[in-house]
Amino acid sequence: MAASSSTVVIATLLVIVALTMGGSSAQLTTDYYKKTCPKVFSTVQSVVKDAIAKEKRMGASLLRLHFHDCFVQGCDGSILLDDTSSFRGEKTAGPNNNSVRGFDVVDDIKSEVESVCPGVVSCSDILAIAARDSVVLLGGPNWNVKLGRRDSKTASLSAANSGVIPPPTSTLNNLVNRFQARGLSTKDMVVLSGAHTIGQARCTLFRDRVYNETNIDTSFARTRQTNCPRNSGSGDNNLAPLDHKSPTFFDNSYYKNLINKKGLLHSDQVLYNGGSTDSLIESYSKKPEAFNDDFVAAMIRMGDISPLTGSNGEIRKNCRRAN
Ligand code: HEM
Ligand SMILES: *[C@@H]1O[C@H](CO)[C@@H](O)[C@H](O)[C@H]1NC(C)=O
Ligand SMILES: *[C@@H]1O[C@H](CO)[C@@H](O)[C@H](O)[C@H]1NC(C)=O
Repeated sequence: MAASSSTVVIATLLVIVALTMGGSSAQLTTDYYKKTCPKVFSTVQSVVKDAIAKEKRMGASLLRLHFHDCFVQGCDGSILLDDTSSFRGEKTAGPNNNSVRGFDVVDDIKSEVESVCPGVVSCSDILAIAARDSVVLLGGPNWNVKLGRRDSKTASLSAANSGVIPPPTSTLNNLVNRFQARGLSTKDMVVLSGAHTIGQARCTLFRDRVYNETNIDTSFARTRQTNCPRNSGSGDNNLAPLDHKSPTFFDNSYYKNLINKKGLLHSDQVLYNGGSTDSLIESYSKKPEAFNDDFVAAMIRMGDISPLTGSNGEIRKNCRRAN
């Protein structure tokens, strides 16, 4: 009797120790909302589906929002916060201003999710689910999204401007370093760049490349020049597809483009320019399944960047402001 009750005490202590340790490095899990919001997936997906039916590019925009969220302060929904009297947020930072989009769609998703399970699902998790749904709806691979992130109460313009999100003028070394700073490998960087199989870029960000660079297909450069005037000004916001072959389809043609010197951004073509990542580009250009598998694994790693868990952060009621 005495022996068995002390066994119970020891076992209980061990459980408490295990729980405490687990709590200090809380993990995201795929079944996080299983009991509290089983409808979260169907609810998010139906709004994303409607948005993409209206405009295919929105899938690309939602995928990019998750990336830009995760690289600044971690995946904490900070990119969604509007400016307040106490801080200027990320929305007008260099990599985001007049560039990131999809905030209205995120608002629509949030209000639908709030109506099925109020106060339960974070805005940062919504971004992760919407990114996955976008990839799937545009023909890419599916995966189980890890969840349980909470939302930040603040955002910082200077953090978003500090270079953590690499600019399209980056060298290969800079791209490698920026991803490494977020715990992501060179391979992760190369495979996540494959997200440029969908979406658009503005003339101001590819002008130098199509007028001044030599590692570019001549006729491709000429075509892009027709919609991107040499001198900065009125044409700055003219758009061109990041993947000229299939701009609204998630496939591996991005890598084939690089091999043909038809990368749109300088930062795309540096991945295939005689450097250390050439062999990966060749491999993904030939093996769509390897691209899909590695993309999924890298998206999960990106979604794991410094989440707020436990009692940190909050579940925002409105993605644009702290509660
Ligand atoms: C490797 C470093 C990266 C650089 C330098 C980069 C740079 C850019 C630039 C300059 C644009 C065009 C923005 C504009 O025209 O305003 C863009 C668009 C886009 N990026 Fe990246 N990007 C990178 C990585 C990623 C990653 C990791 C993802 C997602 C996993 C991603 C997803 C996208 C998407 C989907 C678009 C199109 C968005 C739309 O059409 O609304 N990018 N990127
Ligand atoms: C963001 O873009 C707007 C519109 O082009 C511009 O007026 C504003 O100065 C920009 N903000 C920052 C912080 O650069
Ligand atoms: C091309 O390079 C020249 C010389 O560096 C520079 O003066 C010019 O502004 C660049 N043109 C474009 C369109 O980027």
